[in-house]
Amino acid sequence: MAVPEERFPFSGRHADQAFLADSGDRPLTMRGVTDADLPELLRVDREVFPDDPYPYFVLRQHLDVHGDRVLVLDDGTCLHGYVLFVTTSDGYACWVLSLAVSADQRGRGLGKRLMLEVLRQLRRERVGEVRLTVEPTNAAAIMLYRTLGFAPEGGVHRNYLGPGEDRLIMVLGLSKGAAGG
Ligand SMILES: CC(C)(COP(=O)(O)OP(=O)(O)OC[C@H]1O[C@@H](n2cnc3c(N)ncnc32)[C@H](O)[C@@H]1OP(=O)(O)O)[C@@H](O)C(=O)NCCC(=O)NCCS
Repeated sequence: MAVPEERFPFSGRHADQAFLADSGDRPLTMRGVTDADLPELLRVDREVFPDDPYPYFVLRQHLDVHGDRVLVLDDGTCLHGYVLFVTTSDGYACWVLSLAVSADQRGRGLGKRLMLEVLRQLRRERVGEVRLTVEPTNAAAIMLYRTLGFAPEGGVHRNYLGPGEDRLIMVLGLSKGAAGG
C-alpha cells in the first residue's frame, strides 16, 4: 500500500487543493461547500448514514447558517465525503457534527485528511477544544479520532442523542497541540 505522500502527490495542507485518492482515480479536491453541492451532499449523507440521514431542510439550513463550516471531497463530478463542524457562540469549542467518506473511498486517508484540515482551521482561529459524538461500536471512527489525539470524556453517555442512541463524547484540547495540522 502506498505511503500517504505517494497517495497524495499534491499533499497541500490547505483546502482547495487537488490531490489523488489513489492511482487511477480522478483527482479529488477538498474545498468549501457551495449551494450547488446540496443535492450531492444529500446523496453522500444518505449513502453513508442510510438509517439516519439529515433531512433536506437540516442540511439546507446548515449551509445557510454556517456553509463555511462544511468541507467536501469533490472529483469534479460527484462528492465522496464531507465534514461539518460548528463552533459555539463563545468561540471556545467546536463540535464536529458529521464526518462521512463514501464506502468505496474508505481506508485511503480521506477521513483523516478532512479532520486534519478542520483542526488546522480551528487552531488558526484559536478554538480551545474540539468535541464530537460517536457510536460506541464505531471502531473505525473511534480509531481515527484517537489517532488525532481525541479522548473519550467519561464513559458511554446513555441516550445522548435520543432513546437508544448512546454515544461516546470525544474531546481534543487544541491548546495541548495533540495532533499536527
Ligand atoms: C469513519 C470514516 C469517516 C473514516 O474515514 P476513512 O477515510 O476510511 O479513514 P482514513 O482512511 O482516513 O483512516 C484514518 C485512520 O482511521 C482508523 N481507521 C479507519 N478505518 C478503520 C477501520 N475500518 N478499522 C479500524 N481503524 C480504522 C485508522 O486509525 C486509520 O489510520 P491508518 O490508516 O493509519 O491505520 C469512514 O469510515 C466513514 O465515513 N464511516 C461511516 C460514517 C461514520 O462513521 N462517520 C463518523 C461518525 S462519528
